Amino acid sequence: MHITVNAAGLALKVSELPDEHKTCIYRLVQEAVNNAARHSGARNVRVIVRNSRNRVEFSVQDDGAGFDKTAVRGLGLLGMEERVGRLGGTLRIDSEPGRGTTVAAELPLPEIAQREIEALPRETDAAHSRIAG
Ligand SMILES: Nc1ncnc2c1ncn2[C@@H]1O[C@H](COP(=O)(O)OP(=O)(O)OP(=O)(O)O)[C@@H](O)[C@H]1O
Ligand SMILES: [Mg+2]
Repeated sequence: MHITVNAAGLALKVSELPDEHKTCIYRLVQEAVNNAARHSGARNVRVIVRNSRNRVEFSVQDDGAGFDKTAVRGLGLLGMEERVGRLGGTLRIDSEPGRGTTVAAELPLPEIAQREIEALPRETDAAHSRIAG
C-alpha cells in the first residue's frame, strides 16, 4: 500500500497546534490508515492536512473496497467520532461498497491558537490566502 501525505496547505507549524488537536489528528489518521490497510485492500492512501485561520482540516482517502456505513459501527469509527466531537469538530465518512473510503474531519481552532498563529511572522502568506478563500 502506497501512502502519500500532502501538508502543503498547512500554514502553521504542528507545534503551534494545541496538544489535544495534535493528539486528535494523530489518532484519527492512525486509525483511518490502519483501517485502510486492514479492511480495504487499497493500493493507494492519500493523507491531506491543511488549515485556514480558524480551523484545521484533514482527510484520509483510500482507493480500496469501501463499505456500507449503515451496516457497520465499529469501535474505531466510534472513537473517531467521539474524539472529533469532543473538540467541537465534525467528521465525515464517505464510503460505498466497491468504491474507496474517505474519512474527513474539521476541527475549529480555539481563539488563543488563532491569535498565536496570526502573531507569528510569516513567509507563507500565499499559502494562507490560497486556502482562506
Ligand atoms: N477504509 C476502509 N475500507 C473498507 N472497510 C472499512 C474501512 N474502514 C472501516 N471499514 C469497515 O468498517 C468496520 C468498522 O471499522 P472500525 O475501525 O470501527 O472497526 P475495526 O477496524 O473492525 O476494529 P477496531 O478499529 O476496533 O480495531 C471494519 O470492520 C470494516 O468492515
Ligand atoms: Mg479500525
